[in-house]
Amino acid sequence: MTKLGVNVDHIATIREARGAPEPDPVTAALLAELAGAQGITVHLRGDQRHIKERDIRLLREVLTTRLNLEMAATGEMVKIACQLLPDTVTLVPEREGEVTTEGGLDVIGRTKEISGAIQDLKEAGRQVSLFVDPDPDQIQKGASLGATLIEINTAAYAEAVPKGLDQEDDERFRKELEKIVTAAQLAEAAGLRVLAGHGLTYRNVGPVSAIPQVVELNIGHNIVARAALVGMERAVREMLEAMHSAVDVR
Ligand code: PXP
Repeated sequence: MTKLGVNVDHIATIREARGAPEPDPVTAALLAELAGAQGITVHLRGDQRHIKERDIRLLREVLTTRLNLEMAATGEMVKIACQLLPDTVTLVPEREGEVTTEGGLDVIGRTKEISGAIQDLKEAGRQVSLFVDPDPDQIQKGASLGATLIEINTAAYAEAVPKGLDQEDDERFRKELEKIVTAAQLAEAAGLRVLAGHGLTYRNVGPVSAIPQVVELNIGHNIVARAALVGMERAVREMLEAMHSAVDVR
């Protein structure tokens, strides 16, 4: 069965919106594990705008599943990863100011820095995954550099999911799904463990999860979005209870 890695970045985004201690992504990660998630993913951005080093240190201590750290392939981030020791490191492209990761790594164009990061991380005993678009050339190059895992970017697929019964949309959707299927087959044949993620939702996850070569999905935003909505009623009920039970907190 396909495994699920839950990305808790946006729990930290809510925390940082107020600079408050809650909600803590560490608590969210433990709850995700309790619910059956097989791994936890966090993206430590250069500006640490959501996840902080402190979160990763605590996650490293308390998780009983796997910790996957997403980061840019820079010397500074490699140094941090070698100190924090996540189980896997996923190298992603990062542009200052971007809202979210904007595409897969250009493994061919940035071979030197990516290859250097892979070697350093492997020497530190970390498994390395590369986040790439479903592009055969990028995947082949990634395999040749010594990565052990590959995460196929599903963003274009997610954008192509038809909103209605429009024929043209269906054709685009079919093509994007086919690209992922072909990329997954090629990556497995190249000896890589195949993951996928980005933009996956409750609505569009099924066809990707059904690809036999894809062993794990990394999903974040849509799970956090759903948690906020399905948890709203309970949260309001609990606040009313707190208001009406005269507990003295002094
Ligand atoms: N995989 C990678 C490499 C990512 O950068 C992200 C976003 O942080 C995800 C998966 C999860 O994407 P989403 O939040 O859209 O589920």
